[in-house]
Formats: sequence, structure tokens, C-alpha cells
Amino acid sequence: MSSRLSLFGGKPAVPHPPTYSWPPITNSDTALIVQLLQRKELSYYGREGEVRELEDAFKTYFNVRFALAMSSGTAALHSAFFGLGLGEGDEVLAPTFTFLSTVMPIFVVNALPVLVDAEPDTGNIDPADIERRITPQTKALVITHMQGHACDMSRIMDLVRKHRLTLIEDCSHAHGASHKERLLGTFGDASVFSLQGSKLVAAGQGGILLTNDQEIYERATLLGHFKVRAMEEVTSDQYRPFSGTGYGLNYRMHPFAAGLAKEQFKRLDAYLQGRNDNLLYLSSRLKGIPGIAPPVVRDYATRHGWFTYRPFYKSDELEGLSLPTYLKALQAEGVPIQKASSLPLHLEPLFQVEDDHSYTYGRTTSEASRSTRQRYQPGDFPHSEHYAQSTCTLPPFTEPMPEIMDQFVEAFSKVAEQAHLLRDYERTGYPHPK
Ligand SMILES: Cc1ncc(COP(=O)(O)O)c(C=O)c1O
Repeated sequence: MSSRLSLFGGKPAVPHPPTYSWPPITNSDTALIVQLLQRKELSYYGREGEVRELEDAFKTYFNVRFALAMSSGTAALHSAFFGLGLGEGDEVLAPTFTFLSTVMPIFVVNALPVLVDAEPDTGNIDPADIERRITPQTKALVITHMQGHACDMSRIMDLVRKHRLTLIEDCSHAHGASHKERLLGTFGDASVFSLQGSKLVAAGQGGILLTNDQEIYERATLLGHFKVRAMEEVTSDQYRPFSGTGYGLNYRMHPFAAGLAKEQFKRLDAYLQGRNDNLLYLSSRLKGIPGIAPPVVRDYATRHGWFTYRPFYKSDELEGLSLPTYLKALQAEGVPIQKASSLPLHLEPLFQVEDDHSYTYGRTTSEASRSTRQRYQPGDFPHSEHYAQSTCTLPPFTEPMPEIMDQFVEAFSKVAEQAHLLRDYERTGYPHPK
């Protein structure tokens, strides 16, 4: 029998729990921001300075023609949908299990999101369910490589070709991750990376859109850029006349954010290596411990991005011990594990109510969008719901820390071995006596 559970007064398995803090900031990061401040390099109108350097670095790494840095990943997704010309009456297939920004800008271009269930094991959009939901109005598909695990791109690309869909990849969890050695972000007509502060390439706030298609690039540029950058970059006869005004928004990125992201991007491969070393090792050692199943990594996910580490809790293997008590016991041992908090989108009120009050009466487009809008209810996407409910999260530790991973494993084993004491505790409310 392992030593007494820390929850009941024993010594914790992880005596010095690591704190997770992201992103790592070096002296050169700080120096760069100070220099920008001293030079009063506070905004750019053209494709210049830190923004240009960041975009060039992305273009080279992903071998794409165009990169457009923006104020957020959400802005970049909006620009992608707009860039693709999606609008009134167009259905866009989208995962119900994703961060809201993958889907919400579809409403802003007046197209219709049609939600799709997840695969039960990876949490990624399910190709079989994509195919079931295609109608003559389906124009596009947006996918998210959740937690940095590649979607099933072979099956998805077959569907995209067969049904002539345009594809948007949301790679906000998957900077530098790959599918069969091909970088994610190089499959879509457009792909988007959030550069928000928790992301692998962190600007603080920011996003970037990649495409090889000049029309998408020009339309995306005009949506969020006007005057100098639009005049320099929008060259086609069709769109150039509008570069003086753009199409109405300002999605420009702050130079500080671009500078920080540029520096972080240089370290991306090292970050990925660190996360893969720690977390694949952790997974290999968690296998076989009752109560926990490591995240599934399919063979085609040749490089994982590990935005978070998301194992499954298996209460049936611990005779029904509840998740809150299981987590409490692990946390007492020093494991920074939590219940995953994000809900599939169809469980949010916006996807369930008749009228979300977002439209102004009298706008014909809005009325049409409202009447054709899909409404969902709990139970509609069982795999997504189950995945969301049964997974936990651990931070994606990036610095090498094999001893800490071993201590985590020790904590998981200890809690599994003494699950019967935790069940007694759950039933009686009293800790197990010494
Ligand atoms: C999958 C995904 N897409 C899009 C976004 C939106 O990015 P941003 O916060 O930069 O707008 C996020 C997260 O923040 C995300 O996790």
C-alpha cells in the first residue's frame, strides 16, 4: 500500500508543485519592447517594422504567399470568413466543441454556422458527422485542431474535394503541429492562429491569417486595414479602388504585440520539443493506472502542439468515485489538475434560443438569418458532451521536468490504490483515520 493520502494528512507525492506561467519572457524580449517604447514605435499604418517581420517569419515557416497579422485570433477568423466571401444563405460547418471564436464570426458575416459533433477520443471534429450535415447550401468548413492534435486531415480533405467546400483551419492550439509531417495551417484555403497570451506563440493579444489566395488576402486586408497598408497591398483592379477606406474595421496589430510574437515564434520548435518530451513521457507512464486514461494521440498527429494536456477520468475504473473527490485528492498531492471547463457551443444559450436580440429589426438580411438559424439542445452532440464532461486538464509544462512527471505518476497511482478510502470519505464525510 502506498503512503497515506495527503488529503488525509500524509506527505504529498509532489512536494514542490511546479507553477505554470506562460509565456517565458527573456531579457531580449524585454529589451525589444523597451526599444520600441523609446523609439515611440506605437502603431503602424503600413506593412512595416515588427508586423512585417512577424508576417515574414510566418510566411517562411509555413511556406505561404500571404500572412496578415491582426489584433486577435477572433479578428483573423472574421477576416477569413469575410475573405472567402461567405455571407447570406451560406452554411458553414463548424465544430460544436471548440473555442467560441471559431464560430461566432460566422454570424457577423451573416452566414449560418451548422454545428458538428466531435470524435469521442480526440475531441476533434468528426468527419463522419461533417458528411451527414452537408446540404446544397454548405459552402465552407471550419475546423479546430483541438489542444494541438491534428484533425483527421486525410478524411477531411476527401470531403472538402468531394463536396467542393472551402476550408478554414483554426490553428490557435496548434502552432507548429503537424499531420503526417505536414504543418497544420497549410491545408486550408485560409488558416488562422490566435497569438493570445496563453498560446504557443504569444503576442499577448493578436492573431495571424495565412493564405495562398490573393483574393482572400485582399478582402481580408480591406476588412481590417485602410489607407497605407491597403494601398500598398491590395493591387487587383477589383479591390484596389477601396483601399482608401477599407471595408470598415481596424484590425491592426500593436507593434509591441508583434515584436513579442516574433521573438516567441523563434522559440516555437524548442517549446514544442519541451512539451512533447514531458507530456508523451507522462502519457506513457499513466497507461495502466486505473481511473485515468492519457489523451489519445493518433499516428497521423506526427507533432502534437499540447495547448493543454487533457486526460480522461474513468470513474468506472474506481468504482464510481466522483470526479470532484478524485481531483481534490490529486490536488492535495500537488498535481495541478482541474476539471476541463469549456462547454460545447450547442449548450450555450446563443445556440438554443429563438431570438438572441443581436439583430436590429427592419434589416432584411437579419430576418432571413434569424429564420433559418439552427437551434440545438442538450443531447444533440453526445460525443462532444461526453468529451467535455469526462476530461481534465493539466498545464502543458514546457521546461524539462521528468522528476516532476514521475511525481505526478506517483500521485495518480497513490490515489487509484486508495480510491476505496476516498469513496468512504465521500460517503461519510470523514477522512480515513490514521
Ligand atoms: C481555438 C481558438 N480559436 C480562436 C481563439 C480566439 O483567439 P483570440 O483570443 O486571439 O481572439 C481562441 C482563443 O483564444 C481559441 O482557443
